[in-house]
Amino acid sequence: MSSINYTDKIPNNVNLSEDRTLQRALEQWQPNYLSWWNDMGPDGSQDFDVYLRTAVSVDPQGWAQFGHVKMPDYRWGIFLNPAEQGRKIHFGDHLGEDAWQDVPGEYRANLRRIIVTQGDTEPASVEQQRHLGLTAPSQYDLRNLFQVNVEEGRHLWAMVYLLHKFFGRDGREEGEALLERRSGQTDNPRILQAFNEQTPDWLSFFMFTYFTDRDGKFQLCALAESAFDPLARTTKFMLTEEAHHMFVGESGVSRVIQRTCQVMNELKTDDPAKLRAAGVIDLPTLQRYLNFHFSVTIDLFGADESSNAATFYSTGLKGRYEEGKRTDDHQLRGQSYRVLNVQNGQLVEKEVPMLNALNEVLRDDYIKDSIGGIERWNRVIEKAGIPFRLKAPHKAFHRNIGSLSGIKVSPEGRVVSEGEWAAHVDQWLPTATDRVFVSSLMGRVVEPGKFANWIAPPAMGINRQPANFEYVRFN
Ligand SMILES: [Fe+2]
Ligand SMILES: [Fe+2]
Repeated sequence: MSSINYTDKIPNNVNLSEDRTLQRALEQWQPNYLSWWNDMGPDGSQDFDVYLRTAVSVDPQGWAQFGHVKMPDYRWGIFLNPAEQGRKIHFGDHLGEDAWQDVPGEYRANLRRIIVTQGDTEPASVEQQRHLGLTAPSQYDLRNLFQVNVEEGRHLWAMVYLLHKFFGRDGREEGEALLERRSGQTDNPRILQAFNEQTPDWLSFFMFTYFTDRDGKFQLCALAESAFDPLARTTKFMLTEEAHHMFVGESGVSRVIQRTCQVMNELKTDDPAKLRAAGVIDLPTLQRYLNFHFSVTIDLFGADESSNAATFYSTGLKGRYEEGKRTDDHQLRGQSYRVLNVQNGQLVEKEVPMLNALNEVLRDDYIKDSIGGIERWNRVIEKAGIPFRLKAPHKAFHRNIGSLSGIKVSPEGRVVSEGEWAAHVDQWLPTATDRVFVSSLMGRVVEPGKFANWIAPPAMGINRQPANFEYVRFN
């Protein structure tokens, strides 16, 4: 597969220069994108030289290049994984037919909706994170934040390319609207609720990149199976970048835990008040943040029973996670799946047609995957000899979508009364006091190789750079 042409105004491996209409449309969108970046991208960072990786190829053996760049000059481009010759649709009603190189008229509205919903999350997260640079705990972390931000910007490009190329005028209008909605704004908010929440501090950022970027991974994996080949190829390449975002989250939380445990052992205490006075985040507070981000993120998979999910699957638009590795008939008619329901105030399992439960199937795959990292965090605590374990809350805890949204459930999965919820919620979810405390720790550390007191340094630098490497030149 060819390298990417960086002499083009818009770097790409889709032969953009051979499609003049598309090229012109994207070149008209580009200044609007840049003005969105200037308004809503990382606050006060336009002049920094940041050590960023830029995609230069879609070859898995060396797709990126590292160097200092000013973020507004980042080469956001359009990169699709190589086409698979003779690719066939491998699930749903069209199983065995050739994958589509164009959008079938009858699926146009649904495909557009899927692409717009995915596309909307990308700039939304940049907006949510735009103030974090002002309180970065180190240059290393600041660089990682900016890396995530520019790549979310590129993911927006990936979706806007599909809209412009395959959806004509409607697509161009959607491309503009993606730059107009704003995270958290009342009159024109982002589409999904988790993307309208604030990311107020770095603990939230690490939890977000661990849990919510992982939702991104699962959505992208499901779209990478799509019968619409350009969507499959685009999302496959996005997944390459996504891995780093989840690494930022997992290693970030892990370093917070490491530092807390170190201070717990030094002071020989597990008293949150003493640990807070020592300037580290106590483990129960970490658990409450985890509970919040886990529950808000699993809502993103949608209602547990959904006829849309069935339609998206049967028509071949969106597969399951690792569809190709599964050994069933890939059509799922007549099969069933167990979802949780509420009956007389109790949680009960209920068999429903699997096609209608595909949101729940994806959510359950996500939950399995996200628990893996929690276990790795627990090993850090265990190694420090501390008898505390972090735990994913029950799937029914703090839900706002689907049949579980009407009830109150404890993190252990016990249905509780409103009164019991109110009496315990301060132990289960971050309180205003927790948030004020965490934000009180957020100061800006800019000296190379130095880290804020509440977080341990990473085991290794980015691209094997030394600990005191200058990841960001502030100019
Ligand atoms: Fe993304
Ligand atoms: Fe991401």
